[in-house]
Order: sequence, then structure tokens, then C-alpha cells
Amino acid sequence: MKIKYKKIGVFTSGGDSPGMNAAIRAVVRTARSYGIKVYGIRKGYEGMIDNDMEELHSKDVGGIIQRGGTILNSDRSKRFRTLEGRQTAFNNLRNRDIEAIIAIGGDGTFTGASIFHDEFKMSVIGIPGTIDNDIYGSDFTIGYDTALNTVVQAIDKIQDTAGSHNRLFFVEVMGRDAGFIALNAGIATGAEDILIPETITYLDDLILNLKENKRRGKTSAIIIVAEGDDAGGAYEVAAKVKKLDNSYSTRVSVLGHIQRGGSPSAMDRVLASSLGYEAVTGLIKGYENHMVGIMNNKTVYTPLEQAIKTPHNIDKQKLQIARMLAI
Ligand code: F6P
Repeated sequence: MKIKYKKIGVFTSGGDSPGMNAAIRAVVRTARSYGIKVYGIRKGYEGMIDNDMEELHSKDVGGIIQRGGTILNSDRSKRFRTLEGRQTAFNNLRNRDIEAIIAIGGDGTFTGASIFHDEFKMSVIGIPGTIDNDIYGSDFTIGYDTALNTVVQAIDKIQDTAGSHNRLFFVEVMGRDAGFIALNAGIATGAEDILIPETITYLDDLILNLKENKRRGKTSAIIIVAEGDDAGGAYEVAAKVKKLDNSYSTRVSVLGHIQRGGSPSAMDRVLASSLGYEAVTGLIKGYENHMVGIMNNKTVYTPLEQAIKTPHNIDKQKLQIARMLAI
């Protein structure tokens, strides 16, 4: 098979997620096995504009599969939102004869990549990497499984102290626009209620639910609040609930960036390795403006524009299941 590309770039962009290193490793080793040179671009689009990139050999990505974060660093670039910034980035890539890029990140990253492709005809393959799992075109994004497990471990610990002190805990998890972490952590820990951005939160219903739990003999409760919930973050929700019903001893715990770090789970390592491999082979097959994902156990290439514009819907029915099982 004749391979069109001799040199490609790879970078991570937006919020980091555990497993990004495993994806970089897979991209580098797959490409090199096809005789394609790979340049690692630092700090996402920022490094592209600043010409901060260097060739990665197979040994450069040794010993990173188990490491959280990203060896290439990550950033959100304001300059890449300007044509001037993108032109500089393109010139830097062209001067090194880099003919295609592999972008590991979320929808902001893919929006930039899609515009870049349209303006400069740069071939682009996106790999979904974000703890939020909010990307259409892949059942799971790299980092989500690890973050979910981190949250579950943290909430298990909070359950212990909540039970000892008969307290009502509001636990805030990440997810500005997406409730995947909140919903599935809630099911996995048996949380009494889960507030997510995809549904309208009625605090009266939450209080009724808590009262019902109390009536059944429960003495403590965990409410998981996704940071982007319409009723507010955990502190705000706790304050509002206190105003409506002051009968609980309440505490708030914001889990924050521990959710973004840590060694990737086995699932994330496997996902990242597969997607890194399929990103390179996708380029070789001729995909030029696509995101690679896995849906129903099959590799799927979705046009970047579709991946950006289509919501990754959450199964809201699972909220009812979670409440039913947590009584
Ligand atoms: O997109 C990943 C994410 O962790 C979101 O869940 C969160 O809202 C956001 O990034 C926080 O980003 P940062 O702290 O890097 O600005």
C-alpha cells in the first residue's frame, strides 16, 4: 500500500485526561511502524503557533502508558482562534513538511482542528480525550473511566463519614455541560440523588426524596451535583436546600481536579491504545477530517463537524433507576 504521509504531528489540547499518554504512545509507535515520522507538538495549538515541537521516536514514549497527565502538556489557545494564529501554525507545520495532525482532546480541540482543515487543507484526525465523556462518535472518551473510578473511590470514603455522623453530603463532581460522571458515579455508589445539567433540577423533589429516605430509616445521604447543574454547584445547592429544610447536618465536598489526574485505568489504556492505532491507520486509509471513536465495539470515523455538532446524549432514564435502587 502506498502511504501518502511521511511526517505527521500529534498533540494534546484542552483539559488533560488520564490515558492521553497511552494514546500518544500508540500514535508514535503505529506511525513509525509504517515508516511515518511523528512530531510531538507541545501545549496543543499554542506550541503549533510557537513552533514548539520535536520528533518523537519509539523510545521517547516508553514507560508512559501508565502515567496520568500528558507528556506533551496541554492548553486552551486563544491565539488559535484568530486567522493570524492559525496561519502561523500552518507555516510552522509546512516548514517541517508535516502533512497531517492528530489532535487528542475534546470538542474545543476538534472545533479548532475542523476550521484548520477547512482553511489550509491540513489532514486531521481527532481522538476523543476528556474526562467528561461528552463527545458524539465514541461510546467512551479517553479518561472518563479513570475519572469515574476516582470519583467512586472518593464517594465511598465520604459515605463512611456521612454514616458515622448521620450527615447529608453534597458532593460536587466535574462536568460543566455533561452529567456522565455524576450519573454513573451515583449509580455505582448508591447515591440518594444525582443532579445533572441535562435535566431541570427541582429542589422540592430532592427534599421529598430525602424525607422519604428518612422515613424509611436512612440516617445519612449523598447527593451528587455535577458542577454545571442548573441549580448551581454543590455549595449553592446545599445553601438552597438548607433554606427550604434546615433539619439536616450538612457538609459539602468538591472533588475538583483529583478527577483529572492519576494513572489511567486498564479500560482507558486499552481504549487509548486502540484509538491511537486507529487514528494513524485512518489517515493511511484516507480519512482527512474525522474523529476516530469506538461505538458498539466497532471503530467508527465520524466527520469532525458532526462530532462537534451532535450531542452525546445521556440516558436520562438511568436517573430513575438510580433513585429506585437507592431507596
Ligand atoms: O473538560 C474537562 C473539565 O475537567 C471539565 O469537567 C471542567 O469543567 C473543566 O475541564 C475544568 O477545566 P480547567 O480547570 O482546566 O479550566
